[in-house]
Amino acid sequence: MSDDAVFEEINEAKTNLDGIYDQPDPREYFRKLKPLRYGIPDAAKPIFQRLISHLRRRRSETVHVLDLGCSYGVNAALLKHDLSMPELYEHWGQEKFTEATPDEVVEYDRRYFGTLPEAEDIEVIGLDQAEQAVEFAEEVGLIDEGLAVNLETEQLPGPVKENLAQVDLITSTGCVGYVTEKTFERLLPAVTDGNPPWLANFVLRMFPFEPISEMLKKRGYATEKLEGHTFVQRNFTSEEERKQVLQQLHEQGIDPAGEEAEGHLLAEFYLSRPIRDSVATPIGQLALA
Ligand SMILES: C[S@@+](CC[C@H](N)C(=O)[O-])C[C@H]1O[C@@H](n2cnc3c(N)ncnc32)[C@H](O)[C@@H]1O
Repeated sequence: MSDDAVFEEINEAKTNLDGIYDQPDPREYFRKLKPLRYGIPDAAKPIFQRLISHLRRRRSETVHVLDLGCSYGVNAALLKHDLSMPELYEHWGQEKFTEATPDEVVEYDRRYFGTLPEAEDIEVIGLDQAEQAVEFAEEVGLIDEGLAVNLETEQLPGPVKENLAQVDLITSTGCVGYVTEKTFERLLPAVTDGNPPWLANFVLRMFPFEPISEMLKKRGYATEKLEGHTFVQRNFTSEEERKQVLQQLHEQGIDPAGEEAEGHLLAEFYLSRPIRDSVATPIGQLALA
């Protein structure tokens, strides 16, 4: 079976949430995900923060982040403004937004995020295939530049390549699985045109990361998994989803006992760095300091 087909089959075990990914504003995304306690951006935040601090010491003042599968700018909101997922659920679930038009939400959020202090000196390029989500994130200022592109099916547009050369860190939560090694392969020449960035991916246990790490290896990267740690992504949507996911895990020889069997989808953390960087500082020292 091709890697594409493998990823497609694994995706079928999960409930399809595509309908909430590309709306003019994030209300529906947060309304649907709240009862599922979608929280992987919160779990990832302290690790991303440590990596950013580390890179800041070694590189420039402003750390340039590319958030893959940025959606409405969720990771950017957490990192730039030191917000949490519960705060975002509350913000986009506000009573006053119930009857608001998307334009009114954008207008309000532009002022709201525009006046929040910036806790972290970062610039975020957000990449997602969801055009409206990227447009929202860019309009309200959560991301500094948006790339609405699907690198599974298209090439990177030529004009954006220059800005990608300064990327220090690529982050993703909840995205690998939708994207495969194809996306990374198409992204890599542009982002490695300067100082090669680090890649920090939170990946559901049922998606194999090997096709991506193998591709990266050919380009001088070493990938480490943070052993002994799992991160809750969200609760299962239904008993049916639970059964299907547990079945998928069993088929892949992954034991869900005491893990997914407790009721949630779990992710692991993979850090990919140019080989010389990974030799210098082990993953545990960076991610768990
Ligand atoms: C589960 S959401 C995660 C969003 C955000 N990172 C978060 O954690 O809240 C998955 C995201 O992947 C995006 N996505 C799906 N397929 C994609 C592709 N081929 N290229 C880029 N983004 C994609 C979706 O549009 C969606 O925004």
